[in-house]
Amino acid sequence: MAPALVETTLQEAVDYSKSGTGEYKEAFIGGPKAFRSDAELKGTGKQPPAKHPNYLPTWDAEKKYPPLEPFEHYEHGKDANPSFPNLLKNAEVIDLTANIGAEVHGVQLSKLTDAGKDELALFVAQRKVVAFRDQDLADLPIQDALNFGGYFGRHHIHPTSGGPSGHPEVHLVHRGADDTTARNFFEERTNSVTWHSDVTYEQQPPGTTFLYLLDGPIAGGDTLFANQAEAYRRLSPEFQKRLHGLKASHSGVEQADNSRNRGGIVRRKPVTHIHPIVRTHPATGEKALFVNPQFTRRIIGYKKEESDFLLKFLYDHIAKGQDFQARLKWAPGTVVVWDNRVTAHSALLDWDDGQRRHLARITPQAEAPYETSFEG
Ligand SMILES: [Fe+2]
Repeated sequence: MAPALVETTLQEAVDYSKSGTGEYKEAFIGGPKAFRSDAELKGTGKQPPAKHPNYLPTWDAEKKYPPLEPFEHYEHGKDANPSFPNLLKNAEVIDLTANIGAEVHGVQLSKLTDAGKDELALFVAQRKVVAFRDQDLADLPIQDALNFGGYFGRHHIHPTSGGPSGHPEVHLVHRGADDTTARNFFEERTNSVTWHSDVTYEQQPPGTTFLYLLDGPIAGGDTLFANQAEAYRRLSPEFQKRLHGLKASHSGVEQADNSRNRGGIVRRKPVTHIHPIVRTHPATGEKALFVNPQFTRRIIGYKKEESDFLLKFLYDHIAKGQDFQARLKWAPGTVVVWDNRVTAHSALLDWDDGQRRHLARITPQAEAPYETSFEG
């Protein structure tokens, strides 16, 4: 039976972007005001030039994008051979933990056939996050990397990030050489942990997502991941039952405000969308929690205190679940692939000595989140 689609249209009567618990926390200062072209292209006394100058960020404050239109997503993971003969025939796979994460050697993602890509989508949906080592994605022409990623869905253009010149579809994470603003950040905050799934305020948030390292500190800047399907399964059947049918608003307003306040860009009018709190993955059928403190604001139909109370419990449950989390270490040539529908992640701002950290994300959008009924 086809899953019942849950209505995700915005309810205009209440401004849900501002009426609930909001913990949007911007750990990464960056942006056009902090960007120093000379330091990136030529290096500084302490730091070498950027290894991939074609991926340095540019910001066009004048260029505005229209609202995203709905589109029909095709989930390639549903076509995959579950034995993964095309993806893993020559691979060494090391599980990072019992229930989330793998590290793979011996596969070149850019050379996969379509059957291999289908298997990649399913494998990542099952393992939640996978680090592929010794990849050539960062060395290819940017358009080739985008053509590869475009197989998995329509490219998302981020509302507030800079992009490599001519390629707004690439989302960049960039802290330049000699940038020591992490020290300022810790004057104000005790930690840089920001659990979230990417851009959940969109009507069709991303699915299979690719992040690859261009330059990174020798130590630090790891990424944390949480298995949101396991987070759901850890709850009692009675509590799971209570969550089914609930929906929450997800807001992009604070992220846009933050960008504007630090001299950054806002490419599109910020949006708020409503999604089910428990979503179902289209290829695995797994149910997963789909809330995060960065973008989720309010449970629809609950009073503010009721909504804040329940969301805080879920955020704490996810953040404390180290027995359903993995910590990914970056290395030159690493491409990390996660399924944004069934994971949450957090960057860590734990180095403050001015080493450059520069990554590129390819972010194919997926279906509008939907839920299927509680099964006990
Ligand atoms: Fe993210």
